[in-house]
Amino acid sequence: MSHNREFVQAMRWSTDHLVLLDQRCLPHDVRYIACHNAHSAADAIRSMVVRGAPAIGITAAYAVALSARAHYASSPDSWRAGVAADLATLRASRPTAVNLMWALDVMGAACATLTDAPFAPLLALAQRLHAEDLAANRTMGDLGAAMIAPGSGVLTHCNAGALATAGHGTALGVIRSGWRDGRITAVFAGETRPWLQGARLTAWELMQDGIDVTLIADSAAAWLMAQGRVQWVIAGADRIAANGDTANKIGTYGLATLARAHGVRFMIAAPLSTIDLATASGAAITIEHRDGSELTELAGIAVAAPGVQALNPVFDVTPAHLIDALVTERGVIERPCAQTIAALFES
Ligand code: MRU
Repeated sequence: MSHNREFVQAMRWSTDHLVLLDQRCLPHDVRYIACHNAHSAADAIRSMVVRGAPAIGITAAYAVALSARAHYASSPDSWRAGVAADLATLRASRPTAVNLMWALDVMGAACATLTDAPFAPLLALAQRLHAEDLAANRTMGDLGAAMIAPGSGVLTHCNAGALATAGHGTALGVIRSGWRDGRITAVFAGETRPWLQGARLTAWELMQDGIDVTLIADSAAAWLMAQGRVQWVIAGADRIAANGDTANKIGTYGLATLARAHGVRFMIAAPLSTIDLATASGAAITIEHRDGSELTELAGIAVAAPGVQALNPVFDVTPAHLIDALVTERGVIERPCAQTIAALFES
C-alpha cells in the first residue's frame, strides 16, 4: 500500500471546471459530475454528490471562483453583487458542517480585496485551501496514530476519509497512518444508517487502499466493545463548538457513550476549520434534518410500514466530556475544553 498516492479523490479542478466524484453512486458506480457554475456546486452539496465537512468546504471554495468568473464576465463593474447572491445560496446548501461557512468566509473576504479579473486569484486560493486540507490530514493522521498502542482494534463511524476531505481523511487519516505503522491491526466500520456512509463509502475507500475492514451493523457496536475487540472509536466532526462539544454523524454520540461505559477511548480528528469559536456549546449547533424517505426506503425500495412517520436528524452532538482526544493539525488535546481549544488558535 502506498501512503503517498491518493487513490480516492472526492473533487478535482480540471482545466476550467470542478469535477466531483458522485458519492451517491458508490460503491457500485464510479461516476463524475462536472460543475461549471456555483449553482451546480450548491446542488451537488445539497444532494450529497459531495459530502463530508472539509470536502463540502473545498467544493464551495471552487464554486466561489466559478461564480466570480461568470459574474465578472457578464458585469465587470458589479460582479460582487452576483457573487454575494451565490455565497448565500452556497451557505444555505447544508447547515451543520461549519467548514462550509469557514470556506465561504475566506473566499468572501478575498473577493472584497479584488478589483479586476478575480477568477485567477480566487481559483488559486481555492486550490490552496484544497492543498492545506490534505497537508492537515496527513499531520493529523500521524499525530492521532501516535496515541494508539500497537496491535489495537478501532471502530469508525460514517465516512471521514479521503471521500470527505481533500485526501487521506481525518478519522480515516488516523486509521491509514495507524495501519501503516502497525498500531492498528483491526478496523471496524459501522454501516451508518440511514445513508450508509460506513457500508458504502468507508468500506469501499479502505478496501481501495488494501486496509482490512470489517463492517458491522450500527447496533452491534456495544457487543463489539464488550468483546474487547476495539480500543478506540475514531470519528470526524462537522462542527466543534468553543467548549469542545462536537457535532458529527448521527450515532456518534451513542458510540461515545458506549465507549466510556466500556473503557474504550474516543477520538475526534478534525482540522481547525471545523472548530467554530463563535458557537459556545453544542446546544447552539443547528442539526440538519433530511427527508424521511432516507429511512423508509433503501435504494428506492420501501422498507417501512407504508405511511409511517419518520424523524431523520442526520447529526448529533457528543459532549466534550466524552471525548478523550481531539486531534488537529496543530496538536492533540486530551479531554478538550474551552481553554485548551482557545489555546490552539494562539499557537
Ligand atoms: O452527512 P455527511 O455524510 O456529510 O456527514 C459526514 C460526517 O458526519 C463526517 O463524519 C464529518 O463530516 C467529518 S468528514 C472528515
